[in-house]
Amino acid sequence: MIILSVHNVSKSFGGIKAVDNVTFKVEKGEIVGLIGPNGAGKTTLINLISGFYKPDSGKITFNGLDITKKQPYERAKLGISRTFQNPRLVPNMTALLNVAYAVLGRDDAKKMSLYEAVAEAIYYLDLVGLLQKRDILAKDLPLYELRLLELARALALRPKLLLIDEAMAGLNPGEAEKIRKLIINIKEQLDLTIIWIEHVLRLLMKTVDRILVMHYGKLIAEGTPREVAENPLVIEAYTGKRIAA
Ligand SMILES: Nc1ncnc2c1ncn2[C@@H]1O[C@H](COP(=O)(O)OP(=O)(O)O)[C@@H](O)[C@H]1O
Ligand SMILES: [Mg+2]
Repeated sequence: MIILSVHNVSKSFGGIKAVDNVTFKVEKGEIVGLIGPNGAGKTTLINLISGFYKPDSGKITFNGLDITKKQPYERAKLGISRTFQNPRLVPNMTALLNVAYAVLGRDDAKKMSLYEAVAEAIYYLDLVGLLQKRDILAKDLPLYELRLLELARALALRPKLLLIDEAMAGLNPGEAEKIRKLIINIKEQLDLTIIWIEHVLRLLMKTVDRILVMHYGKLIAEGTPREVAENPLVIEAYTGKRIAA
């Protein structure tokens, strides 16, 4: 079953085609890696799927529903949630209240008491392994724990499709591996579909079902991690060197 379909989607900023006529589909339950050199258009694509930007042209459907013109909150309500490259948390709020705040922002939470929201937030903090840090202010958490909290915040929106923008950047290899395992576990437990941007290709390669490769706004390759790693266009994009055919 197709959960997400991106069809001929483009987005320019001034003269730059950040996303250039991109088409792909994602099956329910897949983990899809999204890679490409800096400036390739990965974050812009995530912004187009989550609704932070509207495409100049093209169409995006989610569970068969045309969401191209829907606002971010409408897409969140349908089950699209994302993490940010730079975690978007309230610095002066505790870890627990940051997640409770996300719960309360949900459309179905209008009649929820703070007590109920906190109880649910505890569940998500526990899921990412941050329960012990619940009373620490977000601004006092180290980067690794901020990334976990950012993940808990995104999960608190109860997504069906989770878009992850660089959960591992700036972390040491041990932390990156812990996040990788956590994301696999969470995917199974919460029955998620995931699109995952990451620069740590080695870790991404052994985790995802399929990889999409962007370069200068275009989707230049798509396939299993092995197929993509052997694709001359991809090697060229990463090394900047032409590979003899
Ligand atoms: N809001 C914006 N305004 C102007 N240019 C942007 C904006 N967002 C992205 N871009 C440009 O679009 C291109 C793709 O950026 P981005 O999607 O952030 O790439 P990636 O995430 O793959 O590094 C870059 O050239 C970037 O400078
Ligand atoms: Mg980016």
